[in-house]
Amino acid sequence: MTRIDPHSYFDDSQPRTQSWHLRLRVDFDRKVLEGEVTLVFPGTGVAGTLDLDTKGLAIHRVYVTATAAPLPFELGEEDPILGRRLRLHIPPNTMGITLAYETSPEALGLQWLSPQQTAGGKQPFLFSQCQAIHARTLVPCQDCAVARVSYDAEITVPDGLTAVMSAGPDGLASAAPGWRTFKFKMPQPIPSYLLALAVGELEGRDVSPRVRVWAEPATIEKAAWEFAETEAFVGKAEGLFGPYDWDRYDMLVLPPSFPYGGMENPRMTFLTPTLLAGDRSLVDVVAHELAHSWTGNLVTNATAEHFWLNEGFTVWAERRILRVLHGEAAEMLGWAIGQKALDESLERFAEQPELTKLRTHLEGIDPDDAFSSIPYEKGARFVVALERAVGEAAFAGFLKAYMQHFRFQSITTEQFCTFVEAQFPGLLTRVNAEVWLHEPGLPADAPRFVSPVLETLTALAKGWPEGLRPSESQLQTWNTSELLIYLQQLPRDLSTEDCQWLDAHLALTQRGNFEILVEWLGLAAGIGFTPVFERVRQVLSTVGRMKYVRPLYQALGKTPAGRALAREVFATAAPSYHGLTRRVAEGVMAKYAE
Ligand code: BES
Ligand code: ZN
Repeated sequence: MTRIDPHSYFDDSQPRTQSWHLRLRVDFDRKVLEGEVTLVFPGTGVAGTLDLDTKGLAIHRVYVTATAAPLPFELGEEDPILGRRLRLHIPPNTMGITLAYETSPEALGLQWLSPQQTAGGKQPFLFSQCQAIHARTLVPCQDCAVARVSYDAEITVPDGLTAVMSAGPDGLASAAPGWRTFKFKMPQPIPSYLLALAVGELEGRDVSPRVRVWAEPATIEKAAWEFAETEAFVGKAEGLFGPYDWDRYDMLVLPPSFPYGGMENPRMTFLTPTLLAGDRSLVDVVAHELAHSWTGNLVTNATAEHFWLNEGFTVWAERRILRVLHGEAAEMLGWAIGQKALDESLERFAEQPELTKLRTHLEGIDPDDAFSSIPYEKGARFVVALERAVGEAAFAGFLKAYMQHFRFQSITTEQFCTFVEAQFPGLLTRVNAEVWLHEPGLPADAPRFVSPVLETLTALAKGWPEGLRPSESQLQTWNTSELLIYLQQLPRDLSTEDCQWLDAHLALTQRGNFEILVEWLGLAAGIGFTPVFERVRQVLSTVGRMKYVRPLYQALGKTPAGRALAREVFATAAPSYHGLTRRVAEGVMAKYAE
């Protein structure tokens, strides 16, 4: 037996699933998906032991698809991270097996929203988030990125609701009165973590022939405007990596409890509504998710231990797209904001330095707990180091060759290194790849990004205690990134008067731009500045994006009044949080002083 992924029961020596045929009914009353999946095998069929991943699934029945002959199954012990292994013994020449099952209302890969948690307030909403290892809470499957599958699906939902998936739409099937069945087809083989489904009152708006934005009717106008430049992003990304291979690039704006900024579900990127700033200032997330169409979805990390291959390259690409479209200064500010995130992650993992390596070892560690800015920002800096060592032109050629060579494959850091060595003999040694990949922290000679704008902002912020203040004209002309960097660089021990000054001059508490707002709220709540408490309560009661929830609960932890607020908000809001968000908040509060 050969298990290659510490987070999956997938066994390399067993038959591999080629495609899934999903037939699921979305039951909002019971908060479950219920139905069948057929796992289709390649060629003339397979035989032997097959281990699948499941978590929280109730398996009703397993049978050979062609003959309906029942197949006995064994469910293993529950592992808190992996879930339960489902072992089957497949008879000779089996072309497909079908599992009848239902999900658990607690499935971590799903969030069931009440109408009150949506913009429209009338219909319920459901969305999935399968990365890193939650596909197994939706479907019994080989939940390892190496076992790629194509899929088709029939999703039955109550009348009045629309289903979208990480797949192409394939029309409607007939359904019982009161229900509608949406059909989907994903012909390209994807890793299981890219399975995605959302159901709600949805409307679509084209922003170009191959780009459509989906959102609730109440949000669609704003969303279509915010992401109107996406087609230009696709063009630039094709310039970097080669042709876009997924037909359409559509996006779905979710309700605010969505735990991430964005998720690169193929053909249907999922986005947080906190990006709807009204000025297109947060579209770097779209550039990022789009770039994953190549780095991540086309060439995929084999397991979470190689996550930097996905995120490091994608952050690099995101900033390159922004450089071309918004200028070098914009790119530079992106790197500066990233540096701050990187420093904070290095600090957060001071006691677990092995999690600051690029190539990680995650046996016994939940990938959601290992998540940080390290694979993103350290990874992207490693890509820059490679690029600088060979020059931009040679690196551009390398990227296209890399995509071409590994397209529709899921690879390890070691496979990546072998490929680099073949393309550029000696390069890995020259850039000290060993240290980048296998040592904790940031190499001493890691690329640093400096620019005059950045230096001015930093000096101004650091000079706060000496009485330095931004001028009227600076206050008026800073863009989102500039203001964000200024706030990030301010000392953390401001006084009440300092906070009053900032809020009076910058109207921070009322901002609708979440990057600015949350940076400010964290700063002010951290010193117990009570005028922001109501706004913090509001944000923590509605927004589930972990990037915002974590620092706000952390900031509240610094004062007794803050801790009281945190506990009060959590007690009320926790039942409506996404499972992942709830875990993050609980984790932060567990470290509170008293
Ligand atoms: N693929 C990630 C989100 C993710 C990672 C979900 C790991 C679950 C496990 C996505 O592409 C991402 O990185 N999102 C960022 C965007 C940012 C870096 C521009 C986010 O959500 O903030
Ligand atoms: Zn990403």
